[in-house]
Amino acid sequence: MTSPETDLVDAPVAATGSEWWRTAVIYQIYPRSFSDSSGDGIGDLPGITSRLDDLETLGVDALWLSPFQRSPQKDAGYDVSDYCDVDPLFGTLADFDDMLAGAHSRGIRVIVDLVPNHSSDQHVWFQEALAAAPGSPERARYLFREGRGLDGDVPPNNWESVFGGPAWSRVVEADGSLGQWYLHLFDSTQPDFDWSNPVVREEFRRILRFWLDRGVDGFRVDVAHGLVKAEGLPDHTPDPEGGSMGGDAADVPYWGQEGVHEVYRDWHELVAEYEGDRALCAEAWLPTPERTALWVRPDEMHQAFNFSYLETPWDAASLRDVVTSSLRAYGAVGAPSTWVLSNHDVVRHASRLALTAENPQGHGIGPNSPGKPVAELGLRRARAATTLMLALPGSAYLYQGEELGLPEVIELDDHVRQDPTWFRTGGERYGRDGCRVPIPWSSDAPAYGFSPTGDSWLPQPAEWAVLARDAQLADEASTLSLYRSLLASRRARHLGAGAVEWIEGLGDDVVAFRNGTVTVVANTGSTAVALPDGIVIASSAPVLGGTLPADAAVWLADD
Ligand code: GLC
Repeated sequence: MTSPETDLVDAPVAATGSEWWRTAVIYQIYPRSFSDSSGDGIGDLPGITSRLDDLETLGVDALWLSPFQRSPQKDAGYDVSDYCDVDPLFGTLADFDDMLAGAHSRGIRVIVDLVPNHSSDQHVWFQEALAAAPGSPERARYLFREGRGLDGDVPPNNWESVFGGPAWSRVVEADGSLGQWYLHLFDSTQPDFDWSNPVVREEFRRILRFWLDRGVDGFRVDVAHGLVKAEGLPDHTPDPEGGSMGGDAADVPYWGQEGVHEVYRDWHELVAEYEGDRALCAEAWLPTPERTALWVRPDEMHQAFNFSYLETPWDAASLRDVVTSSLRAYGAVGAPSTWVLSNHDVVRHASRLALTAENPQGHGIGPNSPGKPVAELGLRRARAATTLMLALPGSAYLYQGEELGLPEVIELDDHVRQDPTWFRTGGERYGRDGCRVPIPWSSDAPAYGFSPTGDSWLPQPAEWAVLARDAQLADEASTLSLYRSLLASRRARHLGAGAVEWIEGLGDDVVAFRNGTVTVVANTGSTAVALPDGIVIASSAPVLGGTLPADAAVWLADD
């Protein structure tokens, strides 16, 4: 092994504090695709409870559950019709309580999804709004407006839905005439609330309390940059390259409006009334860590997803930059940085990191997409990227199935697709079904152990037998074994509470740093690099003769 020129650059340090969420590894469960106990092909809460031992063995600190509340499932549960009940598809409130108690008894915290930007069109409030007259208090809980043009048949402004098509739909009034329009930034079944209305604010305080009283450890807040819209709802044409959820435009009248912060200051106080460090995590798609950090100022939310990190290509210079700017920007407001590579809205990183064509967030990949990834390269890079990520100080989010190295499912038939994006763009964008396929547990059980009957709401590829959890458990070289060893060492060596001290001189394609007793080296280039001294405690690929192969990462310890 060689002795590198270690040039220690100034070390961005994670803000310190003892709250659990500053350092936690949080595992995202997408309930419909995690584990199905009833056999209807859709995962459920008892299914989650039955797998808690596996999650404990994996070594995560907390779970985030995507929505399981009552919903017609037009956007896989992100269209909520009753915020304080469990949808029968997933079980009952008693099943939720069992799951929560089971997690807590294993020392695992649970945060739930909260969807405040919009409800389902089947929510009682929206049904009341449809039945009421224009100008009524019932309509004032949503964003109803008159149309433009002589007959009011032109939408009130030019906004487009994130899922494609116009962001407005027109209603039929009680007398049968065509009437007002309502705003929906997402599907037409997801009407946006009017957050300037105090009634809406009060209702969400009630909803927060409902789940906090049940014992949840916090909330992941959906579309946390979208609740407040600019006064007068002015026209806006988005940047076509910007991805669905944010884009680069600084002044989008529906994203990141100043008034939204008041809502989170209010929630911060409410959450602080409860014991035990309950946390709020923002899903806010903004172009930079500096802008996202506004959501985690000391009196607002506690965490925000680091989408700048997720969107960074597998490139050493870009990775060093985003880590530095993240630690600085979040540290400057006293918040930890978070790190994330996959979730239920993006192409799984085992495929994304090997794409060879542009792929804006939310568009997905399918049979006719350009630049499809080579699976083996994608998995190599994904394992390396995770090895790098889990050594970073702060909190990390994992998405179910990434610990198995699952790729995006590209070859889904058109007729099985369910993402509203696919329908609203007439098949032009594949959408997000490819990252939502139910995960494999046992290689030779029906539906790979996902459901007892073999039913699965999206079909699982035949290649997934070898990726099933039971097949990987016994294999030391498997992706599951890598995740388990990374999580165990991260915990034992307190890396979440550490700091990054950059190491230079190992080459342009190398990201290298110290965090406590661990030296981390990642090679994004195409040739092997010589490693500094140290004992290999985890590596994404075999390290032979003191060199790290291409597209690999390693943790070295002094002892
Ligand atoms: C968030 C969710 C996504 C959903 C959208 C609308 O981005 O993560 O799945 O479709 O909000 O609620």
